[in-house]
Amino acid sequence: MFNSKISGLGKYLPENTVTNDDLSKIMDTSSEWIIERTGINERRHIKKGDGNTTATMGVKAAKIAIERAGIDKNDIDLILFATLSPDYYFPGSGVLVQELLDIPTCPAMDIRNQCSGFIYAIATADQFIKSGMYKNILVIGSENHSGGLDMSTRGRGVSVIFGDGSGAAVLSREEDLSQGILSSHLHSEGKYAEELSLIGPSTNRWVPEILDANDPEDISYYPNMNGQLVFKNAVVRFSEVIMEGLTHNNLGPEKIDMLIPHQANLRISQFIQKKFGLSEDKVFNNIQKYGNTTAGSIPIALTEAWEDGKIKQGDIVVLAAFGSGFTWGSSIIRW
Ligand code: UT7
Repeated sequence: MFNSKISGLGKYLPENTVTNDDLSKIMDTSSEWIIERTGINERRHIKKGDGNTTATMGVKAAKIAIERAGIDKNDIDLILFATLSPDYYFPGSGVLVQELLDIPTCPAMDIRNQCSGFIYAIATADQFIKSGMYKNILVIGSENHSGGLDMSTRGRGVSVIFGDGSGAAVLSREEDLSQGILSSHLHSEGKYAEELSLIGPSTNRWVPEILDANDPEDISYYPNMNGQLVFKNAVVRFSEVIMEGLTHNNLGPEKIDMLIPHQANLRISQFIQKKFGLSEDKVFNNIQKYGNTTAGSIPIALTEAWEDGKIKQGDIVVLAAFGSGFTWGSSIIRW
């Protein structure tokens, strides 16, 4: 019997910072609106020509995580890559990372669960390690949102929220079963698939030669979100799945040392904090600086919390996410 533990963490954010004021110059929005509704002050966007892609940002985060894990890249048995913004339609970005890291023939698999992608990837990695099949698994969450957002006023409800960035973790075999990933809890509800989605390009809707901004079909090449419905479901599902994880491990909310929620909206994190009676220092938020980086958000936040010395050995760390699918999940970790 084995457990898995996070043995190394890394993150990479592109240098180019886009403030709320920058956005208000290109669309009808304001810093006040964005801060009041989301808590976001600024986000990072890849700049044309800076060499960043979903995969290359993932590699930068991964190299740091591998070094901190104290392993050689050739000790990695599997790469799991979570993203909704892959470099190519196919193949997935995992194989690009494998090539860039120069790890010959190691298996690479992409996970397509959007904001919950990193939790789904952690759960998958944990099972491969618990079964004894693999010892070290590289898990990456990475997004290049800025390449595909509608930056006109029409897209403002979505495009002010999302940012680019990448986080990575190495999961390694742990023989002490009281440590590491204690459990993960996953859910989805496909009836809401189109409420937060990018419908095309897809096998249902290939890209036409010329995009027509007035054609509703062409508008679907941008992400769309039913913000209020997503918000309402998020607060319910976040609460449920955190409680499910705690109950499974006979823990109460007072045992949480650090909650790392997916950085969807500062208001959602604050709601959860209050609901579980947690003090501010027990819930980590960095959406103010980076926006919502979807699959990147939890590993970026986890890395930053750890780098800031906010996570210590023995701590109960809870990861929780909700997003497109709808999908949601939690992981309960003893650090
Ligand atoms: O990571 C995946 C999970 N995602 C989430 O959890 C996101 C959940 N949803 C939300 O965070 C919020 O719904 C938003 C932040 C996206 C939107 O906030 P809201 O309070 O739900 O606003 P709304 O969509 O109801 O829009 C209110 C008004 C509308 O104008 P009218 O119809 O009242 O005249 C919008 O057109 O605000 C307008 N609006 C904006 N105004 C200025 C929408 N976006 C903007 C904007 N700047 N960027």
